[in-house]
Amino acid sequence: MKRSPGPAFFSVPAEAGASGSERSAVIDGLKAESSWVSPKYLYGPLGSRLFEAVTELPEYYPTRTERSLLGSCRDHIANAVGPEPTLIDLGAGNCEKASSLFASLKPRQYVAVDISVEFLRHSMLHLQREFPQIKMLGVGMDFSTSMRLPDEVRRENRMFFYPGSSIGNFTPENALAFLSRIRAHCADGSLLIGIDLVKPASILQSAYDDALGVTAAFNLNLLNNLNALIGSDFVVGDWQHRAVFNASLSRIEMHLEARRDLTVSWPGGARRFARGERIHTENSYKYALEDFKALVRRAGFRELRAWTDERDWFALCHAIA
Ligand code: AVJ
Repeated sequence: MKRSPGPAFFSVPAEAGASGSERSAVIDGLKAESSWVSPKYLYGPLGSRLFEAVTELPEYYPTRTERSLLGSCRDHIANAVGPEPTLIDLGAGNCEKASSLFASLKPRQYVAVDISVEFLRHSMLHLQREFPQIKMLGVGMDFSTSMRLPDEVRRENRMFFYPGSSIGNFTPENALAFLSRIRAHCADGSLLIGIDLVKPASILQSAYDDALGVTAAFNLNLLNNLNALIGSDFVVGDWQHRAVFNASLSRIEMHLEARRDLTVSWPGGARRFARGERIHTENSYKYALEDFKALVRRAGFRELRAWTDERDWFALCHAIA
């Protein structure tokens, strides 16, 4: 009997010349009057595992709410997409959510895209053994800045899957641009996307500042990633996790706050931080369902269907191109 070939892996490098400018872009953000770093630097071998732990916290409702919504909508979606879809999973991580759709969707090809290709390798080896009939492709790519999928990705019947409310990391304006880019790559396909809905601030607050301090560790670990990336000398113990709900912008903000006056140095530069000064590390926008639907339509999708839980805390939207 022929053994299945196992998953194939690709790394799509950042746009030409970006690696040098990546370092300087990070440094520019750090040195800005309101210091900031892109949330993509939260992830990596350790950061991705810390995020996985976040999703299991009692306070962090999005993952388990979405999981149960996936259970209730998958048969409808399988009907809507038709036979042998190409399932493209953006930010696949441990591939758990997408693989929960395999039995009903029966994809011909599964494309897992993640910024951390090492994490994908680990996740996909097990998955391929369990589902030998699905062609699997792991793609290491920063899809927030480029959507240059390898030629091996089938064009037929694509369904983009963007779960977890990761779209919340974009401002609404950039979310529109991102959704439009997906639309441009999905011809007659569709998009299944998870979004976190507006809810009382106290619930959001504890979801992003949990009692065990796992979210704090996830946020603080960004400093380790920066040290590796730009050669800085951040000391994790000098900083403190902060999560605040910005009601006027409808977003949770994560910050790292200096515990004392200090200076951070890196080859070629430095920045002083006063005690209490913050580095803004993440935005997580919360939408009213109708506003989000309008955004998806403006991106060029039509025929939208949405599922929500009984508390209206989270929504899954299926949008047809
Ligand atoms: C992966 C962006 C969806 O915003 O809820 C979790 C990241 N940050 N806890 C989110 C996150 C803090 C998460 N997303």
